[in-house]
Amino acid sequence: MSVRTKLPEDPAKRSMLLTALYIAQEQYGHLSKEAIERVAQRLGVLPKEVYSTASFYTLYNIEKTARYRIQVCEGLSCHLNDGAESLVDQVRRKLNLKEGQTRTPDGRFSLEIVQCLAACDTAPNIRINDDLHGNMTPGETDALLEKLMRG
Ligand code: FES
Repeated sequence: MSVRTKLPEDPAKRSMLLTALYIAQEQYGHLSKEAIERVAQRLGVLPKEVYSTASFYTLYNIEKTARYRIQVCEGLSCHLNDGAESLVDQVRRKLNLKEGQTRTPDGRFSLEIVQCLAACDTAPNIRINDDLHGNMTPGETDALLEKLMRG
């Protein structure tokens, strides 16, 4: 779904919105309808304005996420550093994800391909939940996933 981002016009509310969304996500686990309505109520803005901002940034989870939310960057820097394709292939292979499948059957891992994790200097990058992993190789990706699979 393509959603246009419209921040609240009040600069004070605008500056609080991103932080409020982050805190709500920490409390609710993801930005559910209830969480979005709560943030909107607290800031005095419309829920659709909160939703449009939350859905724009890859940092926020609109839907309930897996225990390990894996985001592989396919932005230009990561792509040019031999990242996106080989890392996605490695994640799929390790988690035994079929083409088009984005979540393991047990719900522990989900895979998203995103555009720029704002850390181009360490491309190629993977983010798992709140942790950014830079300069990744397929081998390092395999080792990281192996550790999480055991945990
Ligand atoms: S292009 Fe991958 S972090 Fe920017």
